[in-house]
This record gives sequence, C-alpha cells and structure tokens, in this order.
Amino acid sequence: MKIFLDTANLKEIREGVALGVVDGITTNPSLLAKESGDPEQILLEICRTVNGPISAEVVATDAEGMVREGRHWAAVHENIVVKCPCTIEGLKATKLLTAEGHRVNMTLIFSPTQALLAAKAGARFVSPFVGRLDDIATPGMELVGDILRIFRNYDYACEVLAASLRHPMHVVEAARLGAHIGTMPFSVFAGLLKHPLTDIGLKRFLEDWEKAKKDLGTKAPR
Ligand code: E4P
Repeated sequence: MKIFLDTANLKEIREGVALGVVDGITTNPSLLAKESGDPEQILLEICRTVNGPISAEVVATDAEGMVREGRHWAAVHENIVVKCPCTIEGLKATKLLTAEGHRVNMTLIFSPTQALLAAKAGARFVSPFVGRLDDIATPGMELVGDILRIFRNYDYACEVLAASLRHPMHVVEAARLGAHIGTMPFSVFAGLLKHPLTDIGLKRFLEDWEKAKKDLGTKAPR
C-alpha cells in the first residue's frame, strides 16, 4: 500500500519524507487554510519536496470554474493531481480535465456508486472518507472494501485512496483490504512505527552487549 500524508505542513512533510516511505501528499482547503503563506507557493514547495502525486483541491462549485482552477493547479507542477468533489459538477469537471490529460482525485466519496461514476469519468484516484463515515456510526472501511471489489470486476485505471484515516488500525484495515493508497495525518503516520516491545528489546540487546564487552575486556565491532 502506498502511504500518503494528509497535510499541507512542510515541516511534517519533510520529516515524513526523510523516512523514505512517503509516496505522495493529499491536501484540502481546510489543511491549506491552517498554514500561513500563499497556498500556491506551499503546494509548489510540497511538489519539490515529494516526488509523487500531490492533491490540490478546487474550490469552485460549478464545472467551468473547477476546470479553470484545475488547469491552474496542474500548471503549477507536474506532480499536482486535481482534487474535485464528488458532485454532478465535479463529475463533469473530472471528465473534461481527464480528457485533457490531467490526473483527478475525486474526493468526498461516501458511496460505492459515487466511486463507480468517478472511475467511469476517468478519475485516477477515488477518496472514500473512512473516518467521516465512522463519525456518523456507519462503518467507513466497508466502503473501501466495496469499492475495491467493484473495481476488481473491471479494468478502470483508478486507484482506491483510503482517506480520512484517523488511527493506525484504520491503516491496518485499509492494507488488509488491499487499498492502493492510504492517506493519513502525520500523527497517525508517526504512530505506525512505534512499539514498546521494540524499545524494550533494543535496550536489553544494548545492555547485554555492553556487559559482555566488559566481561571479556573487548571492544564492540564498529
Ligand atoms: C483526504 O484527501 C482528506 O484530506 C482527509 O483524509 C480528510 O480527513 P478528515 O476526515 O480527518 O478531515
């Protein structure tokens, strides 16, 4: 499963990229609004930092406006993927933008039928929002499974990007189902590697090694 960070914060992005396992970034208007500075400059810097798909969302609500904004974002950097909301206008815009060769991530997907239409319109990614469904007592991960099952019946060039992942178990479940991508906040990403038994085990290995060295009067190989 590819790992995307769901953030527009450059400090977090740089920290994540340094680990060598971040494949892309998703942003949205709320995430960009949290950062200070020009959103276009922030997106450009993100594109220079991460060699992978970087989602930039349109804020127009009509197809014409979405296409205009989408073309603008796509011209900022080749890594940009235009994010369009899954509405009637968003679907029209997706069809037009993909016909021009732009990649579209159709966002705010909450049903399998929305994902099916997005794939048919040429979207390169669909983003089912797991956490937001969980928030309203609807099992979000079932949607990811449904979309994957539907897509396996056909040959859409569309990847399932499990979004709104709020904790490590969401990441585990998305990977179990075979989601192509999981996008998550930096805090969730950071939690994926942590395990107290790793820390305890490493501490004991190092202590035993030091003790053995002392007993033998030798030095550890460097
Ligand atoms: C994905 O592209 C969205 O930006 C994100 O995953 C939404 O997550 P949230 O529901 O935690 O805001």
